[in-house]
Amino acid sequence: MTQNTLDLEENSHAPKAGPVECLGMTFPNDEERRKHFLGILRDKLKDLEFRKIEGFPIGSDEDILALSDPPYYTACPNPFIADFIKHYGKPYDPSKPYSREPFAADVSEGKNDQIYNAHSYHTKVPHKAIMRYILHYTEPGDVVFDGFCGTGMTGVAAQLCGDRAMVESLGCRVEKDSMILQPETDENGKTVWKPFSKLGARRAILSDLSPLATFIASNYADFSSLVTFTDEALKLVSKVEKELAWLYTGVSGGQVLSAVWSDVFLCPNCSHEFVFWEAALKNEKLQESFPCPHCGTMVGKAASKKTGAIKLDRPFATGFDPILKKVVRVPKLALVEETTKSGSTRKTKSIKEEGRKSLVSRFEGRAWPYIPTEEFFPGRQTNKLINGSGISHICHMYTQRALFAYGTLWQQQLSSHKHTSLFRFCLSSINNCYRRRENGGRWPI
Ligand SMILES: C[S@@+](CC[C@H](N)C(=O)[O-])C[C@H]1O[C@@H](n2cnc3c(N)ncnc32)[C@H](O)[C@@H]1O
Ligand SMILES: [Zn+2]
Repeated sequence: MTQNTLDLEENSHAPKAGPVECLGMTFPNDEERRKHFLGILRDKLKDLEFRKIEGFPIGSDEDILALSDPPYYTACPNPFIADFIKHYGKPYDPSKPYSREPFAADVSEGKNDQIYNAHSYHTKVPHKAIMRYILHYTEPGDVVFDGFCGTGMTGVAAQLCGDRAMVESLGCRVEKDSMILQPETDENGKTVWKPFSKLGARRAILSDLSPLATFIASNYADFSSLVTFTDEALKLVSKVEKELAWLYTGVSGGQVLSAVWSDVFLCPNCSHEFVFWEAALKNEKLQESFPCPHCGTMVGKAASKKTGAIKLDRPFATGFDPILKKVVRVPKLALVEETTKSGSTRKTKSIKEEGRKSLVSRFEGRAWPYIPTEEFFPGRQTNKLINGSGISHICHMYTQRALFAYGTLWQQQLSSHKHTSLFRFCLSSINNCYRRRENGGRWPI
C-alpha cells in the first residue's frame, strides 16, 4: 500500500521564501520542512515491522525518499497519517447529531474538463461528480478518505468544495454566509432553493496500491506553484530541445515532427522479408490482404477465408541492445515515413532502405540517460505483448529516439522537489504520445 496524505488547504508547499506551517510546526522555509520529515521517514524505513506492511513497494530507501514529499506524500505507507488526523480530525461529538438522507440523485458529469484531462488513468472519475457526494455528506474541514484513489480526483474534489466558482458550476448557489443552496421542485412544481451544504475545503487522505497512482494524485493535489513552475518548465524544455536537435534531424534534413514505423513481415510461401507499410498500402489505406511483393501469394496479418490470404510470419532481429546491455531478440521494425519542418515548410517523405541505414550510427558515442529496463511481469495482457509482438521490456514500448528524449527530460532537476515532481507529472501525462502504438499510427518522433 502506498499512501498519500493531503492537507489540501495548507498544502501550498510550493518553493517560497519565509516560514511555513506544517502539522502545527513552523519551519524557516519549505525545503527545511521537507528535510525534517524526510529524516523521520528515513528512520521509519529502517523499521522492519513497517516494511512488512502488505503491499509495501519494492524499492530502495533512497528511491522511496527521493520520490516522497513528507508528510504530504510518501511513496510507501504514510507514517504521518495519525499525526494528520490528530491535527485536522474532529473527535466524534454525540451532542451534535449527524444525519443525512442517502444521496440518490443521478450524477452525470462530462469528461471534457481541463483538470480532469490533465492526466489520464483507467476508470477515472470526474472531480465534479465526486464534489456532489462530498458536499452532501460532509462539512468544511472534515476528513475524507479514498483508499483506492487512482489519480486522486477525490482529493481535487475535496479541495474544490472551497472554490465558489466551481461549486456554482454544479448548478448551486452560494450565499454570503457560505451556505450552499441547490434547486428543488416543490409540490406546486416551482423551483425553490434549499440549503444543503457549506462552502469550504475538506481534507483528503488518499491511498492506492500503485505508486504511480499516488505520484499522480500527489501532484494533482497541489498545483499551487503552477505559475512559477510553467515559466521554469518552458525554459527547460527549450534548452533540452536545442541540446537534442541532433536527435530530431530528419533523414533528409529539417526537424522531425512525426514518423511512421512499420512492422517487417516474412512471407510463409517464399520466405522473403518485406516492410508491411510498403507492401500493404494502397490508395493511402493499409489493406488487410495483399499480394507478397516477392512471389505474389495473397498474404495478411491474419489469414482470410474471403481473400484466401495466408498469415504472415514475424521475423526477429538479434542484436546488442545498448539500453539493456545484452543481446536481445526483437521483432523487426522499419522507419517508413517522416514529416519534417524547415523554417515554415512542412513536408512528409517516404523513407527507403538507404535512409534507414543512415540512422543506424546516430547513437554511437552518446551517453544514454537513465532508462528503466524492467521486464514485464507475466499476465493476461503482458503475455499478449510478449508472445505477439515480442515486446518483453518496458524500454521496448518506445523507439530509441523517444527513449533518449524521454530519459533526458525525466532526469532534469528543477529548482525544487515540487517543480521536479510536477515536471515528471507532465511527462507521464504525455506517455501515451511517446510510446509505441500497435497497428500502425503516427508517432510524435
Ligand atoms: C478504478 S481505479 C480508481 C480511479 C480513481 N477513481 C480516479 O478518478 O483516478 C482503482 C484503483 O484501486 C487501486 N487498488 C486496487 N487494489 C487495491 C488495494 N488492495 N489497495 C489499494 N488500492 C488498490 C488500483 O491501483 C487503482 O488505482
Ligand atoms: Zn512471398
